[in-house]
Amino acid sequence: MSAVPVIAIDGPSASGKGTVAQRVAKTLGFHHLDSGALYRLVALGAAREGIDAGDEAKLAAIAVRLPARFEGEEIFLEAERVTDAIRTEENSFAASRVAALPGVRRALLDRQRSFRRPPGLVAEGRDMGSIVFPDAELKVFLTASPEARAERRYKQLKEKGIAATLAALLQDLRERDARDVTRSVAPLKQSPGARPLDTTSMSAEQAAAQIVDWYRGGNR
Ligand code: C5P
Repeated sequence: MSAVPVIAIDGPSASGKGTVAQRVAKTLGFHHLDSGALYRLVALGAAREGIDAGDEAKLAAIAVRLPARFEGEEIFLEAERVTDAIRTEENSFAASRVAALPGVRRALLDRQRSFRRPPGLVAEGRDMGSIVFPDAELKVFLTASPEARAERRYKQLKEKGIAATLAALLQDLRERDARDVTRSVAPLKQSPGARPLDTTSMSAEQAAAQIVDWYRGGNR
């Protein structure tokens, strides 16, 4: 077992994992892994190379050699800044298809584990506590109602000047949840030993403070 502590935060899309994980990492001075970004990068890399989002062998090959770099909050694919390009609705859809392929998931395992460096790691995704870091010190399952999540996504897009409707976002979230929950490999589910945290009526600050408290308090 590695001595480097991991806090695993899993949950559905737009549950606030990203913001909360970043805050927890900052408070504790830990590294941060946004595992969803890796699936998004594979999907974007594939689209750029004209590879179909169902071609498992070619996608796994992309995942192995993924020329990605994380610099603070910016993400690069080779020399190109793709921080926003990986988050379009089109690429989100492609990422969730790519993430259902066992070959891609296997190809990304070592890369995800390589983020575990002293003094610690906050890892967010769908299978952080169940598969990638089963020995995590603290496992949290973050949820919020679909309506609250759609509302948060709506606000984010509006701030970026991207047009969207609440109804369409809600439908999209429900479809993505269904795919994440029902897929045969690494489906989204609360792993045994994970603490549920419902953030429907909580701010990101409150959710992050709760996780830091759990971690520091050893009350887990
Ligand atoms: O978290 P985010 O929405 O950025 O993830 C993008 C896609 O990657 C999701 O649709 C999900 O299916 C997939 N994913 C995954 N396992 C993870 C993280 C993300 O399957 N650990």
